[in-house]
Amino acid sequence: MKNVLIIGSTGQIGSELTMKLRGMFPDGQIVAGYIPGAEPKGILLESGPSAQADVCDGNQLLDVIRKYDVDTVFNLAALLSAVAEKKPQLAWKIQIDGLMNILEIARDRHLSVFTPSSIGSFGPETPRLETPQDTIQRPKSMYGVTKVTTELLSDYYFLKYGVDTRSVRFPGLISHVTLPGGGTTDYAVEIFYAAVKGEEFVCPIAAGTYMDMMYMPDALQGAVDLMLADPSRLKHRNAFNIASMSFDPERIAAKIRARIPSFRMRYEVDPVRQAIADSWPDRLDDTCAREEWGWKPRFGLDEMVDDMIAELRKRFGTA
Ligand code: SER
Repeated sequence: MKNVLIIGSTGQIGSELTMKLRGMFPDGQIVAGYIPGAEPKGILLESGPSAQADVCDGNQLLDVIRKYDVDTVFNLAALLSAVAEKKPQLAWKIQIDGLMNILEIARDRHLSVFTPSSIGSFGPETPRLETPQDTIQRPKSMYGVTKVTTELLSDYYFLKYGVDTRSVRFPGLISHVTLPGGGTTDYAVEIFYAAVKGEEFVCPIAAGTYMDMMYMPDALQGAVDLMLADPSRLKHRNAFNIASMSFDPERIAAKIRARIPSFRMRYEVDPVRQAIADSWPDRLDDTCAREEWGWKPRFGLDEMVDDMIAELRKRFGTA
């Protein structure tokens, strides 16, 4: 990994991954790919190259990949689960037609490709607790349908053409840098913004709904470690279960209230998000990722809550 294209570099994962890779590979070209309307700004723009890279435009991707002699693509363009339910055709176009564009270029130019999968690739028939690496995947959301297809297509290109595809199933990602948008797990980020600003939080997910979550530094490290892993150790490829914490709204609210006693939360459950959340597992088993490439998260629930509150207090001047 030296010259890298990040497709979706201004999104929740991309904005931080691009900066991390620029720090790790100062001699490489870490290209911040974007679409019009989501251009990089500030440090993301100033610290390295950027290029328009619409996943739906294969010629444009090829031009950028040639220009920067890209060897690795992080394909982070996606509609998250709640938005994908509203725009299923667009979700397919971005997540699957877009992926095909990348895989075809990767096949020709021997690129490595990382396209995240998700806890959303599972469905109600999947074992909810300690969800195994290899298990039933019959998602009921469009987001999930695209994620299972992503896993299958990525494995197919590896098996058939030897394309170096690798992936993880991300849980809900929590970060203080860039907000997610349109996901079922977004509440776990938004709750911190409300708490730190002293606002009441209106929770769209019902009490008792457990989902896997992860702090962004662990998610980024996982993606990078997997792409740097010795391929001879990988028995799986697309995609590895990874996990670090699981909670429901009551548990995260209690953790926040222990640090901000005035924090208030009430429920106004969103039926679309709730139906999606109810179909996802509560907690994944990540043994294969630990054994095959050394996955090891640093942040547990308390460490994440401490860090989120400290960082957002700095940002909003409410320390
Ligand atoms: N965070 C995503 C969502 O909620 C799941 O991968 O849509």
